[in-house]
Amino acid sequence: MMTFKRAIVFAAIALSLFLILRSHHSGPNYHNANDLPKPKSVEDWVWKSQHPGEAPPVQPSQPKQTPSHSLDSGTIRKPKNQIPLQDLHAKPLKEQLEYQFPYDPLSKFPAYIWQTWKVSPSSGEFRSDFREPEASWTILHPTFVHEVISDDVAPHLMQHLYASVPEVLEAYNALPLPVLKADFFRYLILLARGGIYSDIDTTALKSATEWVPSSVSRSSYGMVVGIEADPDREDWADWYSRRIQFCQWTIQSKPGHPVLRDIVANITQETLKRKALGTLDKNTKNIVEFTGPAIWTDTVFKFFNDPEYFDMSTGTGNITFKEFTGMKSAKKVGDVVVLPITSFSPGVRQMGAGEDDDPMAFVKHHFEGSWKPESERHIGDTAH
Ligand SMILES: *[C@@H]1O[C@H](CO)[C@@H](O)[C@H](O)[C@H]1NC(C)=O
Ligand SMILES: *[C@@H]1O[C@H](CO)[C@@H](O)[C@H](O)[C@H]1NC(C)=O
Repeated sequence: MMTFKRAIVFAAIALSLFLILRSHHSGPNYHNANDLPKPKSVEDWVWKSQHPGEAPPVQPSQPKQTPSHSLDSGTIRKPKNQIPLQDLHAKPLKEQLEYQFPYDPLSKFPAYIWQTWKVSPSSGEFRSDFREPEASWTILHPTFVHEVISDDVAPHLMQHLYASVPEVLEAYNALPLPVLKADFFRYLILLARGGIYSDIDTTALKSATEWVPSSVSRSSYGMVVGIEADPDREDWADWYSRRIQFCQWTIQSKPGHPVLRDIVANITQETLKRKALGTLDKNTKNIVEFTGPAIWTDTVFKFFNDPEYFDMSTGTGNITFKEFTGMKSAKKVGDVVVLPITSFSPGVRQMGAGEDDDPMAFVKHHFEGSWKPESERHIGDTAH
């Protein structure tokens, strides 16, 4: 049993897919290794670019990582044969979502930037202190479509995207607080359309085209996440809900990614359950767990340890915070790139994060969205 579980670490840690993609690796486990363009040198990306002269990290001797069917990219998942709507709706929610938004790991990252706010930037009521952060995205991504979806427009957009998955719409419409809707919005828009979601109070410091070096094939990953908190201290639980917390103020993804499918299904079902029980209220307690960074973090880790996507036959244990704590350069687990804390949380002056002008600093979150009950999102900012 232990070996079975130990399997998962090697199944999924960063370097495994890298190695599998390299031609010398003969493992049969990545079904489509031959179909994927091979990164020139991932070690160059992870190490030489940031730590000239340093040796690359020790690599697992027997890396194995098998994305199974859903990452099985040789056969690009086109929508299956038409299923009559009532048959589709009889299927589990995750299957409905997969049918509507199939994941194609080899696809390009769509050139979209999605943001949401009460009003659009063309409105006089748009907060003046958000103008510069908002403009930073347009300036650094001149070829991208950049949309700020206002609260008026968001329900129509969701209606348009999710008309065929009515449970999701029912849940979205039932959420009683703007902060909950805004949380849900990011997962929904990325699942359906892909691209970058970023909170409106977040400044782009570097173009997303530079977040991952161009030497790393875009078809070798489908999602980019950053670290919000890495409190390496005994009493971390007094201040943060997770030992490593992934941030959800900025996420890049290809449409249909299984992590998004999972979190959308979870929030939908959780919302409808609470609605049925009459417990869906405006209490902002536990938003972190319901739609915020805690459930986001859990969902990402769940994916890293999901035997459906990763080979569990070798390895040493589950992927945990230990794989990411203190890391100074990006790691890739399966098809998810995890950036170091500096990338999406520069200048926080703690937890090892670099400053805003660090070469690895990509976005700057200002924690100013007025719809965010920030005290509820971090257990305690006074820890800082
Ligand atoms: C959603 O995910 C959380 C955390 O993994 C879990 O506790 C909860 O039971 C899930 N809810 C549903 C409805 O699946
Ligand atoms: C790995 O994760 C599974 C499911 O989350 C858990 O049941 C198991 O105890 C974990 N294994 C180890 C070695 O921590």
